[in-house]
Amino acid sequence: MTPHNEAKLGDYADTVLLPGDPLRAKWIAETFLQDAKQVNGVRGCLGFTGTWQGKSISVQATGMGQPSAAIYVHELLDVYKVKNLIRVGTCGGLHESVKVRDVVIAMSAATDSTMNARFAPFNYAPFADYKLLSKAVDLADQRGFTTHVASVVSSDIFYVPDGAKSYGDLPNHGVLAVEMEAAALYTLAKRFDARALAICTMTDCLITGEQIDAGERQTSLEEMVTLALDTSLKI
Ligand code: HPA
Repeated sequence: MTPHNEAKLGDYADTVLLPGDPLRAKWIAETFLQDAKQVNGVRGCLGFTGTWQGKSISVQATGMGQPSAAIYVHELLDVYKVKNLIRVGTCGGLHESVKVRDVVIAMSAATDSTMNARFAPFNYAPFADYKLLSKAVDLADQRGFTTHVASVVSSDIFYVPDGAKSYGDLPNHGVLAVEMEAAALYTLAKRFDARALAICTMTDCLITGEQIDAGERQTSLEEMVTLALDTSLKI
């Protein structure tokens, strides 16, 4: 169907969860979805469709960073006519108020990428879909998660030279965490009149160097994925 996706039209559900890691996509499909079938395997960037609580839902890996994510997201929106995209990822903390394991729900996404500068002018401010955002926040609050509804920065650079300082004064302007995909996701979703949200678990703190351990990572991932799946039932 596309150079990056062999799924047929109709293979994806209206709602697609978007982890970066293909093996995490497989784990989500095998662990949470009923009757999951693989719909994409091109370049190992795995996609699956199954059901959650009886509702059809898909999961598609995006790879890391905005150029990779934008390819999968663009094609899901343009070719497969997907309506709701929920990124389930990790982020690095930039502000002392965010602790490892906290959930960051990205209301908006600043970026150092040139992608938006080329296609969405005037320093466009990419933002989440309000309905998805409010449903996810309600569910997170009901579950007692420590949640930050905040701005993130979608960076093109993972290995920054100077930790949180590399992001200058952004943390003092409500940008509490760094990840690598949300800005492109939000911009593309708006362009195609679809909904998007990024939910991220904070796995490493760029101020202190603290990192989540393997056991905590697994528990946090499970909580985040069920939050995203249950959000999909509310829309
Ligand atoms: N930078 C970018 N993305 C991330 C990080 C980070 O430090 N941690 C988890 N995702």
